[in-house]
Amino acid sequence: MNTKRIVLFASGSGSNVENIVNYFNDETHITVTAVFTNKRDAKVIDRCNRLNISALFFNKHAFINSDCVLEMVKALKPDLIVLAGFLWKIPENLINAFPNSIINIHPALLPKYGGKGMYGMRVHQAVKDNHEIETGITIHYVNSNYDEGAIIHQAKTIVTKEDSPESIAEKVHQLEYEHFPKVIEQLLKG
Ligand code: GAR
Repeated sequence: MNTKRIVLFASGSGSNVENIVNYFNDETHITVTAVFTNKRDAKVIDRCNRLNISALFFNKHAFINSDCVLEMVKALKPDLIVLAGFLWKIPENLINAFPNSIINIHPALLPKYGGKGMYGMRVHQAVKDNHEIETGITIHYVNSNYDEGAIIHQAKTIVTKEDSPESIAEKVHQLEYEHFPKVIEQLLKG
């Protein structure tokens, strides 16, 4: 059986990256090949150093105005590209080169709380402000509009009056750690 290759994109802390890398460490047929980041000082780079994973930084020009990132990703021959806390819109050249092979995780129950500018704590603050009684995660395919691709998997958690945006974020992260690697595994094995 050929080894399946995952390429990750991340912009921030990278706790999902670390969780995914650890999950597939014991898996001989699935491997995380590299992590691409658009933030030179992102904490995810420290995590990659610690985990012995290649971290590759790129700027906006390489991503949007050239085929530079596209060619680097293509060279790695990924079976799946996974956005794990990545905050830039994916350009058409990548979407066209990897049809149905790019997935994203969003920290809410889409179509609620999605779209441009809705990421990280902003999402959890909006959930709190709107007195939602539940929130969750959405794992979906990526198309050229923010958070609009076909939904692959959702999972829910309750929100109580006592919850703060921070405690909501914590609950959502726990769901992400539990579900995201399993969904990736199913897609690669399916
Ligand atoms: C995650 O909660 C992820 O769902 C969210 O960013 C966080 C990254 O956390 N993604 C978005 O908001 C995308 N719109 P991490 O860096 O600790 O994995």
